Amino acid sequence: MASRVITVEPFDFVAFGGTGDLVRRKLLPGLFHRDRVGQIPPQTRIIGVARSTLDDAAWRTLAREAILAHVPEHERDAAVLERFLARLGYVEVDVRGEAGWAELAGRLAEAPDRIRVFYLATSPDLIGDICAGLARAGVVSPAARVVVEKPIGKSLASARVVNEAVGAVFAETQIFRIDHYLGKETVQNLMALRFANALFEPLWNAGRVDHIQITVAESLGVEGRAGYYDGAGALRDMVQNHLLQLLCLVAMEPPASLDADAVRDEKLKVLKALKPIVGDHVGRVTVRGQYDRGAGEGGPVPGYLEELGRPSSPTETFVALKVEIENWRWAGAPVYLRSGKRLAERVSEIVVRFRPIPHSVFDAAAGPILANELVIRLQPDEGVKLHLMIKDPGPGGMRLRRVPLDMSFAETFAERHADAYERLIMDVVRGNQTLFMRRDEVETAWAWIDPILEAWAASGEPPKTYRAGTWGPSAAIALIERDGRTWHEDGA
Ligand code: BG6
Repeated sequence: MASRVITVEPFDFVAFGGTGDLVRRKLLPGLFHRDRVGQIPPQTRIIGVARSTLDDAAWRTLAREAILAHVPEHERDAAVLERFLARLGYVEVDVRGEAGWAELAGRLAEAPDRIRVFYLATSPDLIGDICAGLARAGVVSPAARVVVEKPIGKSLASARVVNEAVGAVFAETQIFRIDHYLGKETVQNLMALRFANALFEPLWNAGRVDHIQITVAESLGVEGRAGYYDGAGALRDMVQNHLLQLLCLVAMEPPASLDADAVRDEKLKVLKALKPIVGDHVGRVTVRGQYDRGAGEGGPVPGYLEELGRPSSPTETFVALKVEIENWRWAGAPVYLRSGKRLAERVSEIVVRFRPIPHSVFDAAAGPILANELVIRLQPDEGVKLHLMIKDPGPGGMRLRRVPLDMSFAETFAERHADAYERLIMDVVRGNQTLFMRRDEVETAWAWIDPILEAWAASGEPPKTYRAGTWGPSAAIALIERDGRTWHEDGA
């Protein structure tokens, strides 16, 4: 069944950082896909902005190369590509200076009432300058929106500075703080699973759930981003945003509706209920790791320090945490989070492990009765599995076995899934903020992260090393096993 495509209103999309990686890898291909399916009306323009001296034709060449590189051949169409490229224009702007702003304003003035999306795909330290420049250029119309990429700051204090700078120019309803995990198909499915089924909600509490695990594992290393990454680390790069957002969606109370503020109010309550990890507690419930050389997908790979070209670094490329949510629903059912680079495989999933049965009617020969588990696989191989105990088929008495009820998206839905960025860009155009982070969410998440970073820095201990291609330092396994639990393994 083909998905329904509802055409959006015409818009002007202004991509700051127009020659950068995000624009080439995600934004241009994403917009191309939406154009291909007919979601983008003819008047829509896409304007690249950067410091490089290019003209419209040169940026179109860059865009053509980006689409050829990042859109599979069977999803390309020569006529659509030409139509798409014809929408593109380029303006050279010195965002810290005066040059170029007037030209940008002139181009936008051709359609004064049109929706304007200013997408800041630039280095985070330029966000304030760009917003101030947009204000001076007089282009922040009532129909303007700004999309702010992570990282939003490196701490609560620096996040506030960014939020103040953006908020000085745009109203909160115009600000779209993007977390691309919220645009992933299965992440949204989490809401469908929880709130469109009567089955799970009565069990969704510490009385029935033993614990939750959220794993976002990557097999790649820092891939030429060592400069940015070394100032960040896994806690800032992944946990402060993606993993905490996933945690919020799993743990939040049912919102009254899917209105942006109804959902974001509930997520905020979860963030506020997180038990602070401070002082000595940090050493007990957090694990930091850094990969050493080992095995990658295509053969041996260097360690993080080799990639960085430095003899040492305190930056973690892996983190595992035990998190407690101090509220009525979740007290007593912890959430274990882990994320890292150069791990054994690329897999992101949420595992809800239910409590064991209270009493077994089976004799010992039936074998162990394992707890039910709901596994929501975000990537790759998106799907949902519900692990249940059944009788092993055939004669030979009652032997029990745990098997998954398995719903694979690829098998169930043949059509292509939109990439997270595609979906989120269309939400920006529609003005729907449900899948974007509100200022208070971002700042509350930082307020919880800051003490962990401070305690790590104060301890002076380096991160524990792990071999590339493994599941991180053994301390991460000990973190969960100490509580009599284990990390989920596929097929387990
Ligand atoms: C980004 C991080 O936000 O998410 C990267 O900065 C990480 O370090 C990426 O690799 C992972 O995203 P995805 O969609 O590939 O899981």
